[in-house]
Amino acid sequence: MAPVDPHSYTDGAHPVVSRATLTFYLDFAASTIHASALLTLSAPHSGDLLLDTRALAVHSASTDADTPEPIPFSLTAAADPVLGTALTLTLPPDTTSFRLTFSTSPAASALQWLAPPQTASAQPFVFSQCQSIHARSIFPCHDTPAARITFSLLLNVPEQLSAVASARHVARRDPLPSDHRGACDDELWCAPGRIVEEFQMEQSVPPYLFAFAAGGIGFRDLGPRTRVYAEGGDKVLDEAAREFAGVEEMVKVGEGLFGPYEWERFDLLVLPPSFPYGGMENPRMVFLTPTVIKGDAAGAQVVAHELAHSWTGNLITNKTNEDFWLNEGFTTYAERRIVEVVQGEERAALNMGIGWRGLNRMMERFKDNMEFTKLKPKMAGIDPDDVYSEVPYEKGFQFLWRIEREIGRPAFDEFLKKYIATFKFQSIDTETFLEFLKANVSAIENQIDLHLWVEGTGIPPDAMEPDSATYKKICSLAAEFKSGKLPSEDEVANWSGQEWELYLENLPTDVEASQVTALDERYKLSESRDYEVKVAFLQLAIPTGCKCYFNEVEKCLKQVGRMKYLRPLYSSLAKCSSEEKMLAQRIFSEAQEFYHPIARSVVESILSKHS
Ligand code: BES
Ligand code: ZN
Repeated sequence: MAPVDPHSYTDGAHPVVSRATLTFYLDFAASTIHASALLTLSAPHSGDLLLDTRALAVHSASTDADTPEPIPFSLTAAADPVLGTALTLTLPPDTTSFRLTFSTSPAASALQWLAPPQTASAQPFVFSQCQSIHARSIFPCHDTPAARITFSLLLNVPEQLSAVASARHVARRDPLPSDHRGACDDELWCAPGRIVEEFQMEQSVPPYLFAFAAGGIGFRDLGPRTRVYAEGGDKVLDEAAREFAGVEEMVKVGEGLFGPYEWERFDLLVLPPSFPYGGMENPRMVFLTPTVIKGDAAGAQVVAHELAHSWTGNLITNKTNEDFWLNEGFTTYAERRIVEVVQGEERAALNMGIGWRGLNRMMERFKDNMEFTKLKPKMAGIDPDDVYSEVPYEKGFQFLWRIEREIGRPAFDEFLKKYIATFKFQSIDTETFLEFLKANVSAIENQIDLHLWVEGTGIPPDAMEPDSATYKKICSLAAEFKSGKLPSEDEVANWSGQEWELYLENLPTDVEASQVTALDERYKLSESRDYEVKVAFLQLAIPTGCKCYFNEVEKCLKQVGRMKYLRPLYSSLAKCSSEEKMLAQRIFSEAQEFYHPIARSVVESILSKHS
């Protein structure tokens, strides 16, 4: 057994799946997918082959022949809490492809099924979130970013729904009896009122980028290769189209900085509020939280980030989760370069400042577990969702910014373009990046302590706080808060959400309840429609013991399932007295049905740690 990834059962001594032909019958009533997968290997193989699964019921395995022969298979008896269940197949000599039939569990960790009363369109809705290791709960696969796949996908859904995926849309058509490939029987597949949506992904991607959604989804075109999809009708779509009007321009900016956009289309899907992230870079179809639509173009930062992944993450992919900074650090750097062009240097510096605060906060969070302050942490036995943090983003950003300062921007830009062109459509590790850096930037290892940056804990001494007038002004206003001074109406006159966020996150954490309420009476932050502001404020208010915001905290936790908000709010409550702890428990018991399974399990783990 040659493990290639601490988060996968994939055996490096065997060939890997390189193509998946997936056929899914979506049963909304049972929150289940009945499926068939034809899996093709990178080379012929005989004997044992291990695949990752999680909570899948595997019905059959057979050869890919005119008269299929059964293939012996077994699932490990007990599921590993992080890895799930290994599926072992015993392949006949020289097998290049084989077929599996299986069903997902209603509790599949990647999928959230929403009933009509829970959606804006009053239609059922389902969506996937596979990063980091949830693709295995949808289909058996080598669920490691080291093994890239191409795929085709047939989704059989009720005809009043439409579907999108991280792939080229080929057709929407009637189901044919020959189509189902064993996913279910002819009768179910071709029942009246069903439709098939067909997709193809010919570019190889890591399994975590497999994604789809189905529901009462409509769309608006934004440009020749950009479109926004959402459920909820004309008003929502118009608002989304306004918010994202600049997306085509942004793609062009990205191309200027990083080279050709290789994915043909850049479409956006706005999800229901339970989407657990701000954004997810699914190729050709970025998934976004509806909380980015604020009417003030603030969504641009999240879109810039997910767009930047088109180069860093989707073209060049981290080989395992231990190299996650190669995805997120590079993307945070690239995002800020795009923001600098479309929104200006001051805005980019403000984002760096928010990131800098976040990075420093993480040193506090991980003070008893400094491993997770490393750029390349050891991840064996660790659930990536439990240790998700700003470290790979912001320490990664700082590392690249440090290199940029050393060699100058023109040289760094050239280096970046060459890096992308060299490794596109590959999954690489940190060592490969460092070798490439040393080979292309002479004597860099004499100027920067690369080992300290990559292997060391904490923040290296040559990291840098951004230097900008707006950023410094906000930090100094925040410092004055301790002595009782609130910012004046004039000072905040042209603050948007990000300025407030930076201000609130820079305030001392040991403030009095009376100070917090005074700030809120003046600026109504607890009721802000901008969740970044609202959550930053509530996070400050909870530890003061002030109960007057319980109501707002409860509303917030029940309206939005984005983990960026759930984590700090539940953690703050759980660290307080028994009254707050009980509040957290009650809210969670009432809200958990509305959360995505990933968010549900993250909150459960927060609450159990402090119980
Ligand atoms: N790829 C991430 C989201 C992710 C990370 C999902 C790890 C699952 C596991 C995405 O690109 C991201 O970083 N989203 C951020 C956006 C922000 C940095 C602008 C988010 O969701 O907050
Ligand atoms: Zn990202």
